[in-house]
Amino acid sequence: MDIIYSKQEIAHLPYRNSRLSLEKRVEDLLKRLTLDEKIRLLSGHRIFNTAPIRRLGLGRLRMTDGPFGVAMHSSGLSKNTRFPSTKALAASWNRALAKRFGVAIAEEVRANGRHMLLAPGINIDRTPLNGRTFEYFGEDPYLVKELAIPFVRGVQNQQVGACIKHFVANNQEILRKTISVEIDERTLHEIYLRAFEEVVKEAEPFSVMTCYNRINGVYGSDNSYLLRETLFDKWGFEGFIVSDWGATDHKELTTKSCLKAGLSLEMPSGKKYKQNLLEKALSSGEIKEDWINDAVSRLLLVAGKTGVLDDPETLPKGVKNSIEHQSLSREIAEEGMVLLKNEGILPLKLDSINSIAVLGPNMNKKFGKILYGGSSAVKAPYEITPIEGIKEFCSKDVKLVHDPSEADVVLLFMGLNHNKDGGRRDFVSGFFKKRKNALIYGHDSEGADRAQLELPQSQVDLIRDTVKKNPNTVVILINGSPLGMKEWLNDVPAVLEAWYGGMESGNAIANVLFGEINPSGKLPITFPEQLIDSPAHKSPKTYPGDLDDLKVYYEEGIYVGYRHFEKFEIAPLFPFGFGLSYTTFSYANLSLNKNKLQSLDDTFNLYVDITNTGERFGAEIVQVYANSLESSVDRPLKELVGFAKVELNSKEKKTVQISIRGKDLAYYDVMTHDWKLDPGTIRILVGSSSQDIHLETEIHFS
Ligand code: BGC
Repeated sequence: MDIIYSKQEIAHLPYRNSRLSLEKRVEDLLKRLTLDEKIRLLSGHRIFNTAPIRRLGLGRLRMTDGPFGVAMHSSGLSKNTRFPSTKALAASWNRALAKRFGVAIAEEVRANGRHMLLAPGINIDRTPLNGRTFEYFGEDPYLVKELAIPFVRGVQNQQVGACIKHFVANNQEILRKTISVEIDERTLHEIYLRAFEEVVKEAEPFSVMTCYNRINGVYGSDNSYLLRETLFDKWGFEGFIVSDWGATDHKELTTKSCLKAGLSLEMPSGKKYKQNLLEKALSSGEIKEDWINDAVSRLLLVAGKTGVLDDPETLPKGVKNSIEHQSLSREIAEEGMVLLKNEGILPLKLDSINSIAVLGPNMNKKFGKILYGGSSAVKAPYEITPIEGIKEFCSKDVKLVHDPSEADVVLLFMGLNHNKDGGRRDFVSGFFKKRKNALIYGHDSEGADRAQLELPQSQVDLIRDTVKKNPNTVVILINGSPLGMKEWLNDVPAVLEAWYGGMESGNAIANVLFGEINPSGKLPITFPEQLIDSPAHKSPKTYPGDLDDLKVYYEEGIYVGYRHFEKFEIAPLFPFGFGLSYTTFSYANLSLNKNKLQSLDDTFNLYVDITNTGERFGAEIVQVYANSLESSVDRPLKELVGFAKVELNSKEKKTVQISIRGKDLAYYDVMTHDWKLDPGTIRILVGSSSQDIHLETEIHFS
């Protein structure tokens, strides 16, 4: 008979004693749980929670989707601060801002009574068409980890768990549940696993979510190589692994294969971790109770870290929808905006403008709707649209007109939106019709990819038509993934990439357009001129994959993003790291504190003088790329290995210091299955984008 405890007895159980170490508390709890209860803890309860064990007073570990705030569908339809999309954060290249974002979102998670945030997504952008590009940071592992680490630390400093996802190579939404990513070991580690490895080691996220897809034929949720061998044994991950929702559905995965690989929590409910299946596997000796104990203790450890084992009254209450969070949301949107083109029309000067025409499909669009774009959708108590932001900024000084030919300036709000809304909802050719997740919507959305790089034809026509009527037309893009622009870019004097800017987007855009804020964002992803230039788009085999064998071949290897454009000398529309300012900067006096690196753990410092040569305050993102000249393997011509964001008043000069780790210069060696750097010279390139290199020096590895 299981012991039934009274409320008072529960309060005095050792696992409830916060003065004991967490390990001791978990040990005590594990000892008290019956096998049946442990099994119940291994799968989801009501979609976003673990099961409560009432007999022992153990509450639920409650999760919610992110990463732009607490998502509506997973928080009892509550309204929360809608922060900008991850692409906007990534375009800020601001580590401190990423940390503040993490703290704020964790406060909102707590205020919603949840313990874990199912974010951030740190997959690498392989194709501009991936429907979830807006949710991910970018195409470069160094940039991704440099921003994801502080984000995760910010979340977890608040005793809220972060869950990095989707482990790994979930780089397309078309056929995401079935496709097998065919990839070589070096590429897998050097490009797609690198940010995961760094975030796991540096920020110790409480959880990792598996992917839906297969990797070299094996699904993410029972992939022993990736989960047990790599995450647990090699990287020392101490948190728990959760399946993506429904990722264990396939018949190829079994109770044994999932448990053996290290999956702790099957979501949203038990398919492989059903009571009868686990019991059967145990009694036949297929699985061991130790495996169950390990899976459950990992979960309980996180439950302990996030306060599930404590009296809820003693936990921080959190904050949601505060003025501070709303203004942080605006700050991220402002810092993430990327000025792509400006022939001098921006910033707009209020005193010389009498009338403005605000046009385009995104001028009054709100993006916060339930499941709009997928699981990341957050609905805020209010959302400032671009037209509202412009009206508020201009107040009565400027007349808003409808006819572009009657306006001094036209602001055209173009771009994309999320699914089921005006986009082409289509299937990929006949073969896919019967298969799930073969959708393309033409927009930024989970569960579907975009159909084309270009804007919808109606928008291209609108731009051309408007420019004919008024050449002073500024295009503002609201979207989360690269767009082709060659049909119209030359016709317009200015283009501002605003991304999905969250609930304060309209105010942030007005502040940038009118020069209250000097744009400083830089692209975290290459904008190709045409799709065929992009590394994943060489043939249908490389994207979306071979339809007969359901495999997508990563033939480009490590040459993803700018690594590819540099190698093959393909001019992108806008390169990785690119972004203009309303001021200008000069680079001088590059030096290093040493000229030899001894080991991968060694670091060196780089110093460079940056001067604001223009007339107004601004911020520059100084980027450092490396190129190993002598190597036993093929190495990219440029790889991001450091960056710093520096703020400067007009004419001010600062010496920027950037610290660079040997490990970030390394490649993944398939002989030793480890990071390696061959002895020799490494060129160190310093610039304002991957293509605008201003200064260069060398370091030697011995
Ligand atoms: C998504 C995850 C999400 C989960 C729970 C899945 O469909 O891929 O990113 O966290 O649903 O909503």
